[in-house]
Amino acid sequence: MNRSTLKIDYSETVKESLDREDSELVEQAFAAAQNAYSPYSNFRVGAAIRLDNGMILQGNNQENASFPAGICAERTAIFYAHANFPESKIRAIAVTASPCGVCRQVLLESEKRAGAPIRMILANGNKIFIFNSVKDLLPFGFDSF
Ligand code: THU
Repeated sequence: MNRSTLKIDYSETVKESLDREDSELVEQAFAAAQNAYSPYSNFRVGAAIRLDNGMILQGNNQENASFPAGICAERTAIFYAHANFPESKIRAIAVTASPCGVCRQVLLESEKRAGAPIRMILANGNKIFIFNSVKDLLPFGFDSF
């Protein structure tokens, strides 16, 4: 039996230190959160995606009286991106929360589709965490053996 330890590679910084591209994506994620529909949890989440064609797309959480029918901000943005720009690759995503496991699995699929790592910028107030690949946030995800 081989015993191993995984190391997660990430950076921690603050909003003011981001470069122009990352800063713009984070600002759009916060703007997207304003349009969340979350009357049940009162928790607004925003996501902004940068495509390889330069476009930025926003998404936010959309809740429902039948709770499981609601959907997270990340998946709203990701599925909108793939539905409307199926030939484009997702290069980066900024989220105003740390993505849940289901969204990480969906992002893993987008990374596979893109054939290149997706940059993930997680923003909590002024605090920023940057991951260079979805694999850093979901090691041993389904289909990633
Ligand atoms: N939520 C997201 O939008 N993204 C996540 O990664 C985790 C949770 C939403 C779902 C629900 O509308 C609210 O946050 C509270 O769970």
